[in-house]
Amino acid sequence: MILISGGAGFIGSNFVHHLIRKTSDSVVNIDALTYAGNLRNLADLDEANRHVFLHGDIRDAQLLRDTLTRYRPKAIINFAAESHVDRSIAGPQDFVHTNVLGTFQLLSAAKDYWTALNNQERDQFRFIHISTDEVYGTLHVNDAPFTERHAYSPNSPYAATKAASDHLVRSYFHTYGFPAITTNCSNNYGARQFPEKLIPLCINNALTGKSIPIYGDGNQIRDWLYVDDHCAAIQATLEQGTPGEVYNIGGWNEKTNLEVVSAVCGILDNQKPRVDGRSYADQITFVRDRPGHDRRYAIDASKIEREIGWRPAETFDTGIRKTVQWYLDNQAWVADVTSGAYRQWINKQYADN
Ligand code: NAD
Ligand code: TYD
Repeated sequence: MILISGGAGFIGSNFVHHLIRKTSDSVVNIDALTYAGNLRNLADLDEANRHVFLHGDIRDAQLLRDTLTRYRPKAIINFAAESHVDRSIAGPQDFVHTNVLGTFQLLSAAKDYWTALNNQERDQFRFIHISTDEVYGTLHVNDAPFTERHAYSPNSPYAATKAASDHLVRSYFHTYGFPAITTNCSNNYGARQFPEKLIPLCINNALTGKSIPIYGDGNQIRDWLYVDDHCAAIQATLEQGTPGEVYNIGGWNEKTNLEVVSAVCGILDNQKPRVDGRSYADQITFVRDRPGHDRRYAIDASKIEREIGWRPAETFDTGIRKTVQWYLDNQAWVADVTSGAYRQWINKQYADN
């Protein structure tokens, strides 16, 4: 049994599907079902196919204790987080609550549980903390990509709360010998990503005839990784990673935001041409920049390749085609997650532009 937190969100739900497909493990999945968590992401899974869903919050110490006692997992993987930078700028409090206090509660319950295991179980137990490259801050165009030794320098409230959680995880290994591993990954894209993030927002706005907002000059750079590749990296880390270590995960795929959005528009032009025959790229609109916008992220993923043997399977070209096709094939999912609360966020976030 493996305990997953945040498994109704984007990466967590892809990882639950990955584990069920690739291993014989069962999953107990604790998720608070915030705006970003969606049971539709898990609709094809139930107890018969090794998935137990628990609606709950990682800040709930009693729920965590009861769940650990009942299911006795051999590993915990912490995906639960508030994950959107723009929301952290508009309201950082939820980020402190979930990312910092929630990770602390999960660590604390996990450490108590681990301490009481027998020797063999204790040796085999792992806690994997899923984090981000944004903790390292920003790079100039000619800087070398982030290695695991790069100093932490978080710039957004999101990145600062993830950095705090990474430090807590690190301290539990160094202080208590608790077998935790942190992975810091670059920007993910793929199926089931909530359409507040650049790629699904671009696809959704293109298809609904809205403008496609590019912050600032659009020359900011991100290192894009297809979500299935991230899932494979996490599984490999779970099986072969060394407790106390940090692994950077990235796609070796640096792109400017304009390149990403142009690629999406080009695929849509082929797959679902606009009725007026023009390109979706006509909908691109430059809007006010994000405050404190990091210019460039790039991951040096050579440590995980050297020590664990993981490398991404998808190129940006293959991954982005699959992603656009998934959104075209799953318009009911999009309609479901873009009701009510979603519209309020979009109206507020893009109001002045
Ligand atoms: P997401 O926002 O899509 O999903 C987060 C999930 O956590 C949701 O299902 C939500 O309901 C759940 N959740 C939130 N608060 C909770 C709480 N207090 N208790 C229990 N569940 C709670 O996020 P994502 O993009 O899937 O990211 C997952 C993890 O990966 C996060 O830790 C994020 O920091 C990290 N990460 C994301 C990316 C990316 O590009 N998306 C890149 C690197 C790292
Ligand atoms: P995002 O998907 O929010 O991920 P992150 O901020 O964690 O990297 O944004 C990716 C890049 O796209 C980032 O440089 C901000 C930019 N962006 C836009 O230009 N327009 C948008 O509407 C959004 C949501 C993001």
